[in-house]
Amino acid sequence: MRIVLVGPPGAGKGTQAALLAERLGIPHISTGDLFRANVSQGTDLGKQVDAILREGGLVPDEITVAMAADRMAQPDAEDGFLLDGFPRNIAQAKSLDALLAESGQRLDAVLDLEVPEDEVVRRIAGRRTCRKDSSHTFHVQNKPPREPDVCDICGGELYQREDDREETVRKRLAVYHEETEPIIGYYSEQGLVSTISALAPVPEVTRRALAVLPERA
Ligand code: AP5
Ligand code: ZN
Repeated sequence: MRIVLVGPPGAGKGTQAALLAERLGIPHISTGDLFRANVSQGTDLGKQVDAILREGGLVPDEITVAMAADRMAQPDAEDGFLLDGFPRNIAQAKSLDALLAESGQRLDAVLDLEVPEDEVVRRIAGRRTCRKDSSHTFHVQNKPPREPDVCDICGGELYQREDDREETVRKRLAVYHEETEPIIGYYSEQGLVSTISALAPVPEVTRRALAVLPERA
Protein backbone atom coordinates (compact mmCIF):
# COMPACT_ATOMS: atom_id res chain seq x y z
CA MET A 1 0.00 0.00 0.00
CA ARG A 2 1.33 3.45 -0.94
CA ILE A 3 -0.03 6.18 1.29
CA VAL A 4 0.58 9.91 1.69
CA LEU A 5 -0.17 11.53 5.03
CA VAL A 6 -0.95 15.23 4.94
CA GLY A 7 -1.87 17.76 7.61
CA PRO A 8 -0.60 20.91 9.31
CA PRO A 9 2.55 20.94 11.44
CA GLY A 10 1.79 19.29 14.77
CA ALA A 11 -1.33 17.50 13.50
CA GLY A 12 0.12 14.17 14.64
CA LYS A 13 1.39 12.91 11.26
CA GLY A 14 4.58 11.45 12.72
CA THR A 15 2.70 9.90 15.66
CA GLN A 16 0.10 8.24 13.42
CA ALA A 17 2.59 7.33 10.69
CA ALA A 18 4.68 5.29 13.12
CA LEU A 19 1.61 3.38 14.37
CA LEU A 20 0.05 2.86 10.94
CA ALA A 21 3.34 1.81 9.33
CA GLU A 22 3.81 -0.86 11.99
CA ARG A 23 0.22 -2.03 11.64
CA LEU A 24 0.39 -2.17 7.83
CA GLY A 25 3.93 -3.58 7.64
CA ILE A 26 5.29 -0.78 5.47
CA PRO A 27 8.11 1.70 6.17
CA HIS A 28 7.37 5.17 7.55
CA ILE A 29 9.23 7.68 5.39
CA SER A 30 9.39 11.19 6.86
CA THR A 31 11.32 13.80 4.90
CA GLY A 32 11.48 15.94 8.07
CA ASP A 33 13.12 13.07 10.01
CA LEU A 34 15.53 12.41 7.12
CA PHE A 35 16.55 16.10 7.00
CA ARG A 36 16.97 16.25 10.80
CA ALA A 37 19.11 13.08 10.79
CA ASN A 38 21.35 14.68 8.16
CA VAL A 39 21.62 17.87 10.21
CA SER A 40 22.56 16.02 13.39
CA GLN A 41 25.10 13.86 11.52
CA GLY A 42 26.63 16.98 9.92
CA THR A 43 26.40 15.64 6.34
CA ASP A 44 26.72 17.97 3.31
CA LEU A 45 22.95 17.70 2.84
CA GLY A 46 22.45 18.56 6.52
CA LYS A 47 24.63 21.68 6.16
CA GLN A 48 22.61 22.74 3.12
CA VAL A 49 19.23 22.47 4.84
CA ASP A 50 19.95 23.37 8.49
CA ALA A 51 19.09 27.09 8.26
CA ILE A 52 15.97 26.42 6.16
CA LEU A 53 14.60 24.00 8.76
CA ARG A 54 15.34 26.36 11.63
CA GLU A 55 13.46 29.16 9.86
CA GLY A 56 10.49 26.95 8.95
CA GLY A 57 10.83 27.36 5.18
CA LEU A 58 10.68 24.60 2.57
CA VAL A 59 13.81 22.88 1.33
CA PRO A 60 14.13 23.29 -2.48
CA ASP A 61 12.15 20.68 -4.43
CA GLU A 62 15.17 19.32 -6.28
CA ILE A 63 16.95 18.37 -3.05
CA THR A 64 13.79 17.02 -1.41
CA VAL A 65 12.62 14.92 -4.35
CA ALA A 66 16.09 13.39 -4.83
CA MET A 67 16.29 12.44 -1.15
CA ALA A 68 12.75 11.00 -1.07
CA ALA A 69 13.32 9.06 -4.32
CA ASP A 70 16.49 7.59 -2.89
CA ARG A 71 14.67 6.44 0.25
CA MET A 72 11.71 5.02 -1.72
CA ALA A 73 14.15 2.98 -3.81
CA GLN A 74 15.36 1.01 -0.75
CA PRO A 75 14.32 -2.65 -0.72
CA ASP A 76 12.01 -2.28 2.29
CA ALA A 77 9.83 0.17 0.33
CA GLU A 78 9.32 -2.12 -2.65
CA ASP A 79 5.80 -3.19 -1.65
CA GLY A 80 4.65 0.09 -0.19
CA PHE A 81 5.36 2.98 2.14
CA LEU A 82 3.74 5.68 4.19
CA LEU A 83 4.99 9.13 3.25
CA ASP A 84 4.91 11.77 6.01
CA GLY A 85 5.71 15.37 5.08
CA PHE A 86 6.23 14.63 1.39
CA PRO A 87 4.97 15.82 -1.05
CA ARG A 88 4.57 19.31 0.32
CA ASN A 89 3.59 21.32 -2.76
CA ILE A 90 2.08 20.68 -6.18
CA ALA A 91 5.47 20.41 -7.90
CA GLN A 92 6.57 17.68 -5.48
CA ALA A 93 3.24 15.86 -5.94
CA LYS A 94 3.75 15.86 -9.71
CA SER A 95 7.32 14.62 -9.31
CA LEU A 96 6.09 11.80 -7.08
CA ASP A 97 3.41 10.79 -9.61
CA ALA A 98 6.04 10.73 -12.37
CA LEU A 99 8.46 8.75 -10.21
CA LEU A 100 5.85 6.11 -9.40
CA ALA A 101 4.62 5.93 -12.99
CA GLU A 102 8.17 5.04 -14.13
CA SER A 103 7.81 1.73 -12.31
CA GLY A 104 4.12 1.25 -13.10
CA GLN A 105 3.02 2.24 -9.59
CA ARG A 106 0.55 4.72 -8.19
CA LEU A 107 -0.65 6.00 -4.84
CA ASP A 108 -3.46 4.10 -3.13
CA ALA A 109 -4.59 6.72 -0.64
CA VAL A 110 -4.01 10.18 0.75
CA LEU A 111 -4.94 10.61 4.40
CA ASP A 112 -5.65 14.19 5.44
CA LEU A 113 -5.48 14.88 9.20
CA GLU A 114 -7.63 17.82 10.24
CA VAL A 115 -6.85 19.65 13.47
CA PRO A 116 -7.89 23.19 14.51
CA GLU A 117 -5.06 25.70 14.69
CA ASP A 118 -5.23 26.34 18.46
CA GLU A 119 -4.80 22.60 19.10
CA VAL A 120 -1.87 22.42 16.69
CA VAL A 121 -0.15 25.23 18.59
CA ARG A 122 -0.79 23.42 21.91
CA ARG A 123 0.57 20.13 20.56
CA ILE A 124 3.71 21.73 19.18
CA ALA A 125 4.37 23.80 22.31
CA GLY A 126 4.35 20.63 24.44
CA ARG A 127 6.22 18.37 22.05
CA ARG A 128 9.59 16.99 23.09
CA THR A 129 11.74 15.27 20.47
CA CYS A 130 14.56 12.74 20.83
CA ARG A 131 18.00 14.02 19.78
CA LYS A 132 19.05 10.56 18.57
CA ASP A 133 15.96 9.92 16.41
CA SER A 134 13.46 12.68 15.69
CA SER A 135 10.70 10.16 14.98
CA HIS A 136 10.65 9.51 18.77
CA THR A 137 8.31 12.23 20.02
CA PHE A 138 6.59 12.91 23.33
CA HIS A 139 4.29 15.54 24.77
CA VAL A 140 4.62 17.05 28.23
CA GLN A 141 0.91 16.54 28.93
CA ASN A 142 -0.50 14.10 26.35
CA LYS A 143 2.39 11.63 26.18
CA PRO A 144 4.91 12.31 28.93
CA PRO A 145 8.12 10.26 28.92
CA ARG A 146 8.59 7.90 31.90
CA GLU A 147 11.64 9.90 33.02
CA PRO A 148 11.73 13.64 32.40
CA ASP A 149 13.72 14.58 29.28
CA VAL A 150 14.72 10.96 28.49
CA CYS A 151 13.44 9.06 25.45
CA ASP A 152 11.51 5.91 26.47
CA ILE A 153 12.51 4.18 23.24
CA CYS A 154 16.28 4.71 23.01
CA GLY A 155 17.37 6.68 26.10
CA GLY A 156 18.30 9.74 24.01
CA GLU A 157 17.95 13.25 25.40
CA LEU A 158 14.63 14.99 24.75
CA TYR A 159 14.65 18.61 23.59
CA GLN A 160 12.38 21.17 21.97
CA ARG A 161 12.92 21.39 18.19
CA GLU A 162 14.37 24.74 17.10
CA ASP A 163 11.49 25.16 14.63
CA ASP A 164 8.92 24.61 17.41
CA ARG A 165 9.37 28.17 18.73
CA GLU A 166 6.14 30.14 18.46
CA GLU A 167 7.27 32.53 15.72
CA THR A 168 8.58 29.72 13.54
CA VAL A 169 5.42 27.68 14.09
CA ARG A 170 3.37 30.59 12.68
CA LYS A 171 5.64 30.67 9.63
CA ARG A 172 5.29 26.89 9.16
CA LEU A 173 1.50 27.17 9.38
CA ALA A 174 1.50 29.94 6.75
CA VAL A 175 3.71 27.82 4.48
CA TYR A 176 1.35 24.89 5.01
CA HIS A 177 -1.74 26.88 3.97
CA GLU A 178 -0.04 28.43 0.98
CA GLU A 179 2.08 25.59 -0.40
CA THR A 180 0.86 22.30 0.98
CA GLU A 181 -2.93 22.56 1.29
CA PRO A 182 -3.36 22.81 -2.50
CA ILE A 183 -2.12 19.21 -2.85
CA ILE A 184 -5.35 18.08 -1.15
CA GLY A 185 -7.30 19.47 -4.12
CA TYR A 186 -4.81 17.93 -6.54
CA TYR A 187 -5.25 14.47 -5.01
CA SER A 188 -9.02 14.91 -4.59
CA GLU A 189 -9.25 15.15 -8.36
CA GLN A 190 -7.66 11.69 -8.45
CA GLY A 191 -10.24 10.44 -5.92
CA LEU A 192 -7.54 9.57 -3.39
CA VAL A 193 -8.29 11.77 -0.37
CA SER A 194 -9.89 10.72 2.91
CA THR A 195 -10.16 13.46 5.51
CA ILE A 196 -10.45 12.54 9.17
CA SER A 197 -10.63 14.65 12.30
CA ALA A 198 -7.43 14.16 14.29
CA LEU A 199 -8.89 15.99 17.28
CA ALA A 200 -9.14 12.88 19.45
CA PRO A 201 -6.83 10.68 21.55
CA VAL A 202 -4.04 8.98 19.58
CA PRO A 203 -5.59 5.44 19.48
CA GLU A 204 -8.92 6.84 18.31
CA VAL A 205 -7.23 8.73 15.46
CA THR A 206 -5.47 5.49 14.44
CA ARG A 207 -8.85 3.70 14.41
CA ARG A 208 -10.36 6.43 12.24
CA ALA A 209 -7.42 6.21 9.84
CA LEU A 210 -7.61 2.43 9.51
CA ALA A 211 -11.36 2.69 8.93
CA VAL A 212 -10.96 4.92 5.86
CA LEU A 213 -7.86 3.37 4.30
CA PRO A 214 -8.41 0.88 1.48
CA GLU A 215 -8.44 -2.73 2.72
CA ARG A 216 -5.34 -3.86 0.90
CA ALA A 217 -3.72 -2.62 -2.26
P1 AP5 B 1 8.36 17.94 9.35
O1 AP5 B 1 9.21 17.21 10.28
O2 AP5 B 1 7.61 17.23 8.30
O3 AP5 B 1 7.39 18.86 10.21
P2 AP5 B 1 5.82 19.17 10.13
O4 AP5 B 1 5.10 18.84 8.90
O5 AP5 B 1 5.77 20.60 10.53
O6 AP5 B 1 5.23 18.18 11.13
P3 AP5 B 1 5.63 18.00 12.60
O7 AP5 B 1 6.76 17.05 12.71
O8 AP5 B 1 5.82 19.35 13.25
O9 AP5 B 1 4.29 17.45 13.24
P4 AP5 B 1 3.50 16.08 13.11
O10 AP5 B 1 2.27 16.33 12.33
O11 AP5 B 1 4.41 14.97 12.67
O12 AP5 B 1 3.08 15.91 14.63
P5 AP5 B 1 3.58 14.89 15.78
O13 AP5 B 1 3.15 13.51 15.48
O14 AP5 B 1 5.02 15.13 16.11
O15 AP5 B 1 9.21 19.05 8.58
C1 AP5 B 1 10.12 19.91 9.24
C2 AP5 B 1 10.83 20.80 8.24
O16 AP5 B 1 11.56 19.99 7.28
C3 AP5 B 1 9.93 21.66 7.35
O17 AP5 B 1 9.54 22.87 8.00
C4 AP5 B 1 10.82 21.89 6.12
O18 AP5 B 1 11.80 22.87 6.39
C5 AP5 B 1 11.53 20.56 5.98
N1 AP5 B 1 10.80 19.62 5.08
C6 AP5 B 1 10.27 18.41 5.42
N2 AP5 B 1 9.67 17.82 4.36
C7 AP5 B 1 9.82 18.68 3.31
C8 AP5 B 1 9.41 18.65 1.96
N3 AP5 B 1 8.70 17.62 1.46
N4 AP5 B 1 9.73 19.70 1.16
C9 AP5 B 1 10.44 20.74 1.63
N5 AP5 B 1 10.85 20.84 2.92
C10 AP5 B 1 10.56 19.82 3.77
O19 AP5 B 1 2.66 15.42 17.01
C11 AP5 B 1 2.85 16.72 17.56
C12 AP5 B 1 2.72 16.63 19.10
O20 AP5 B 1 1.37 16.32 19.44
C13 AP5 B 1 3.57 15.54 19.76
O21 AP5 B 1 4.07 16.02 20.96
C14 AP5 B 1 2.58 14.38 19.98
O22 AP5 B 1 2.92 13.60 21.11
C15 AP5 B 1 1.27 15.12 20.20
N6 AP5 B 1 0.12 14.39 19.65
C16 AP5 B 1 0.06 13.67 18.48
N7 AP5 B 1 -1.18 13.17 18.29
C17 AP5 B 1 -1.94 13.60 19.35
C18 AP5 B 1 -3.31 13.42 19.71
N8 AP5 B 1 -4.14 12.70 18.95
N9 AP5 B 1 -3.74 14.00 20.86
C19 AP5 B 1 -2.89 14.73 21.62
N10 AP5 B 1 -1.59 14.94 21.35
C20 AP5 B 1 -1.11 14.38 20.21
ZN1 ZN C 1 14.79 8.08 21.07
